[in-house]
Amino acid sequence: MKFFIDTANLDEIRSAAELGVLDGVTTNPSLIARIVGDPSNFTYNDFKAHIARICHIVDGPVSAEVTCLKAEEMIAEGEDLASIHENVVVKCPLTIDGLKAIKHFSANGIRTNATLVFSPNQALLAAKAGADYVSPFVGRLDDISTDGMALVEQIVAIYGNYGFMTEVIVASVRHPQHVVTAAMMGADIATIPYGVIKQLANHPLTDAGLKKFMDDAAVMKK
Ligand code: E4P
Repeated sequence: MKFFIDTANLDEIRSAAELGVLDGVTTNPSLIARIVGDPSNFTYNDFKAHIARICHIVDGPVSAEVTCLKAEEMIAEGEDLASIHENVVVKCPLTIDGLKAIKHFSANGIRTNATLVFSPNQALLAAKAGADYVSPFVGRLDDISTDGMALVEQIVAIYGNYGFMTEVIVASVRHPQHVVTAAMMGADIATIPYGVIKQLANHPLTDAGLKKFMDDAAVMKK
């Protein structure tokens, strides 16, 4: 199972990379907005420069999302984003226009991540259009009292039935149990906020055991 970090914050990306568990990065316009100091001075070129900086920290897929709605515009922007670095994956929304753009990119050797996926049929369409990755948003489904991880289970089963090569990224992860369930279901990837990555390492018995070991070790003279 691969771990991506779901952030545009360079400090968080560097810290997660230092742990040795990071396989890639996902960003979206909201995550980019969070790292912008003064929005009046932030340009599209600044966005591209930021994606380039991420690509120099992590040697793995880096999703950069298109910021337009029409297929032709997504294609133009996506081609530009893909030119930033060979590891850039163009993130397209799962809409009719997004599918057209995904199909175009797939036929032209540009990798894509179908985002904002909330149903098994959307995931099926993403795979058929040739998306390299599909991102079901589990946390946002949980937020509306719908079982997000049940969607992942359906997608993993459907892709397995037909041998689709599209990799399933469990997205909108909110807590460690999402990661456990994703792993149990055989999802290819979880894209995880930095805070949750740190939580994965925590266990109260580890803390208690470590305290006892440190206390006992203190009797040794160094
Ligand atoms: C996925 O690629 C998205 O960036 C992300 O997981 C969305 O998560 P949110 O629902 O916490 O915004």
